Order: sequence, then structure tokens, then C-alpha cells
Amino acid sequence: MTARMGLPFLGYGVGLRRAHFDGIFEARDRVDFVEVLVENVMGFGGRPRDVTLRAAKTWPMVLHGVALSIGSVDPLDEAYLERYASLCEATGALWASDHLCFSSAFGVEYHDLVPLPFTDEAVAHVIERTRTVQARLGVPFALENPSYYIAYDASTMSEAEFLREVLVGADCGLLLDVNNVYVNARNHGYDPRAFIDALPLERVVQIHMAGHHDDGTVIIDTHGDHVIPEVLDLYAWTLERTGPVSTLLEWDNDIPPLDVLLAENDAIRAVGERVLGACSG
Ligand SMILES: [Fe+2]
Repeated sequence: MTARMGLPFLGYGVGLRRAHFDGIFEARDRVDFVEVLVENVMGFGGRPRDVTLRAAKTWPMVLHGVALSIGSVDPLDEAYLERYASLCEATGALWASDHLCFSSAFGVEYHDLVPLPFTDEAVAHVIERTRTVQARLGVPFALENPSYYIAYDASTMSEAEFLREVLVGADCGLLLDVNNVYVNARNHGYDPRAFIDALPLERVVQIHMAGHHDDGTVIIDTHGDHVIPEVLDLYAWTLERTGPVSTLLEWDNDIPPLDVLLAENDAIRAVGERVLGACSG
């Protein structure tokens, strides 16, 4: 089994969503691992928690959040971290992740992932907070490259340089969202392959795959459709450089029937096995 930053290759998994609570356990052999959105479970009892704990006994589990707000100038939310750590323990999660962004400031929740300016000041700020989060959660922690729709004049480095500085400085993993790379590259006019080449690929502990909406002018990262062939190609190209990386399909809007979700996971697996088979052969 290949380990990246000491973490195992889990194969090809899907996000655990309420729409599939009933059926997914019958398809256990078509899913290698699951990812749970922590905000859907933390602090709640009832069915979401019961199903999450059952899933944790069925598959390897990783946790993923959207509300940590690692880049915010507000203090880290201690109650949130406490609930998060307790969920890590209850599920035996192998690692946890959130986005390199901020989603709240001055006490206001934005319900959106806002990018940080790519500056030395932001790097130092996020490194310190990431180290705190890793210590509090008690499991390895990874930051995800978010999709973003604004850029700051204040930035003094590229997005890839910013990611590298944060990841190396905080000594944490990278959750590489390949669809986000494609979306950002199109929206901001850069080469997605050159971007990936500039990342510290030895730190990639997980990959996200998802669909998006392309209106021809702007691409919106909706997680509401099939993964397009260009993103599958970029995924293959990435795996040729990284070797095996646990790969997770995110489908959060217009959630399809389970068989469609599983077929999508199969399609991603087919790409991964083709590339990795060729690499090892
Ligand atoms: Fe993602």
C-alpha cells in the first residue's frame, strides 16, 4: 500500500450524502472510502450521526469541512474545534480537511469560501492557525485549493507559490481539487498543468473530483454535474506525477440517483487504474 505523508491510499470514494443514506450500504463494494461533511453531523444526533457512525464501521472515513475559516482574522472557533475533534475520535477518521480561504470575518458568516490575498502576511497567519488546528483535531490535516472568483491587487506571489509556502510552513497535507484547478485556470487564464507542476506534489494526500457549470464566460464550481472529460484528463495527468492518491467524488447539488453516482465513481476509478497500471507496468 502506498502512503503519502504517512497516509494510506484508500482508492476511490464518494461523499456520504443524505439522499443515499438508504442505498449506499448495499453498494459497499463499489465504494472504497467515504468522506463526511462535518457541518452536516457535528453537534447533531439522530439519523445523520447514526448513519455516519455506521459508515465509519463500513468504510475507511475522512472528514471534510467548509466552515473552519482558516484564513479569517477572527479567533479560531474553539467550540467548533472541540466538536470537530470529538467527531474525529468517534468516527476514527484517517484525516480531516478544509479549504485554504476564509468564510467569516468580524463575526459575520459569509456562507461562501473567499480566497486570501497571496501575501507573506497571509502565509504566516494561516501557518500558525493550521498548526493549532492540527494539534487540536488529533488527526492529520489537509488544506484544499479552493475555487475563487476574485483576485487581489495586494497579492505578491502566485497561487501555487502561496499554496507551497503555507503547506510547507504548516507541514500539512494538500487536498488537491482537480476540478477547482480546471475552474480557476479557465476563469483566471492560466495553464492548469503548469500550476500543478508548481505545487509540492509530495504533499497531496487526497484528490477531489467534481462537476461544474460552464456558461461560456465564467465557470462556476457547482458540484452539481458529471465530471467533464477535460477534468478527467487533468486527473490522469496529475496521477502520472503523484502515483496513487485517494480520490473522492463530490456531488452536492442536483444530487443524482445512487447508480449514477456510482457509475461516475467507476469512471474515475477506470482512469486511475489505467494510469496507475501503466505507471507500475
Ligand atoms: Fe473540493
